[in-house]
Amino acid sequence: MVDNNKKYIILTWGCQMNEHDSEKMSGILESLGYINTDIKEEADLIIFNTCLVRENAEFKVYGNLGELKSLKKERPELIIAICGCMMQRKEIRDIIKDKYKFVDIIFGTHNIHKLPELLANYNQHTRMIIDVWEDGVEIIEGIPAKRKYSFKAFVNIMYGCNNFCSYCIVPYTRGREKSRAPEDIVNEIKGLAKEGFKEVTLLGQNVNSYGKSLDSKLSFAELLYLINDIEGIERIRFMTSHPKDLSDELINAIKDCSKVCEHIHLPFQAGSDRILKLMNRKYTKEQYLNLVKNIKAKIPNISLTTDIIIGFPGETEEDFLETIDVIKKAEFDSAFTFLYSIRKGTPAANMKEQIPDEIKHKRLKVLLDVLNPISHDNNLKLMNTYQEILVEETSKTDSTVLSGRTRTNKLVHFKGNTDLIGKIVTVKITNTKTWTLEGNIIDEK
Ligand code: 5AD
Ligand code: SF4
Repeated sequence: MVDNNKKYIILTWGCQMNEHDSEKMSGILESLGYINTDIKEEADLIIFNTCLVRENAEFKVYGNLGELKSLKKERPELIIAICGCMMQRKEIRDIIKDKYKFVDIIFGTHNIHKLPELLANYNQHTRMIIDVWEDGVEIIEGIPAKRKYSFKAFVNIMYGCNNFCSYCIVPYTRGREKSRAPEDIVNEIKGLAKEGFKEVTLLGQNVNSYGKSLDSKLSFAELLYLINDIEGIERIRFMTSHPKDLSDELINAIKDCSKVCEHIHLPFQAGSDRILKLMNRKYTKEQYLNLVKNIKAKIPNISLTTDIIIGFPGETEEDFLETIDVIKKAEFDSAFTFLYSIRKGTPAANMKEQIPDEIKHKRLKVLLDVLNPISHDNNLKLMNTYQEILVEETSKTDSTVLSGRTRTNKLVHFKGNTDLIGKIVTVKITNTKTWTLEGNIIDEK
């Protein structure tokens, strides 16, 4: 290890994929001797890991970037780098080149492993370094990750997406679907288990199509069985699942594998068949609801969460009511709700009949008024039950209060000592709210 005593900070926007990429960049930087800091003013290297999935994520990056101008002026030796999904788009790189000339290094989602080389090539007096790959040729294995927690870890099982939902920029920023070899995944998780990690979250834009790009054609369900056998790992989570690819084989695997947690994040996006078709989702409302029925019949205590887009181009009041109907029938535990955001370069951006913002906001309010009581009712069912919790951290406002998650991914607050962090405990639920639960520790494992 080179001890250069330099400090770095990484600011991350977007999904778990980005969060985990930042963990890998931290791993790379610390192997070069860099030390983490939370304070931009004392950093020698600032990296922005950006997101392009919605307009507000993009604007936040520009806002934060603008604030760095004065820092760079005061300390010209400060290195400012930007990477992530935004940088995969040429029109955005052009904006950075034009308006944010103080940026030193631009790289993309496919070549974070080149960070040491980019830093070595950087020279304060030369021009901005731009190195973005259009698509990853192969998966780069062996990048060290410095993970945020020591007991739960993200593990990539695949990269990219082939679905081209008409609103979504991800296939253009993360490239085509590529699955990691099962032995690489299993070895990584075995290594994590040896280090004491208890929970893994398997990451992919659409984990249900895992394996399709592999010679072995091992399915996601088969991968779950392999991981379930790894000693030391106690919980397996995964996200995201595309409804069109969620097979009976997978439902059975979730049921059979004792370590696979009872939670599926299953975005439905919209309830109207007409809108689903325009979105290129490849399922109907009926197929989605049948899938939900099938899952709940086989795994009664499953928790279901979803993503919903409000105000997709052409969405009528009637279409919107179909979305509300799905919420009522599927009885989601919780949902992420998004106002449709135009993403240049996607088919939906050119669709006529874009929906005015005030209508989107009005529909969001109507939707939340239906969704929130359903989430609360689901939580209410857990009153007085005993839940297995992996303790994660102390509350920001009260250090005697701990928080952790049930196997069904519900956040629970309870009193306890900080040495329980990273341990699995049993908590009796004594109070339920819309988004969180409260309880008392009964037992330490
Ligand atoms: N506008 C709004 N929401 C979007 N999502 C993806 N693209 C857009 C967009 N253009 C949402 C989808 C997806 C989640 C990660 O982000 O609901 O499931
Ligand atoms: Fe985007 Fe659809 Fe791929 Fe998800 S499945 S990343 S929404 S294109």
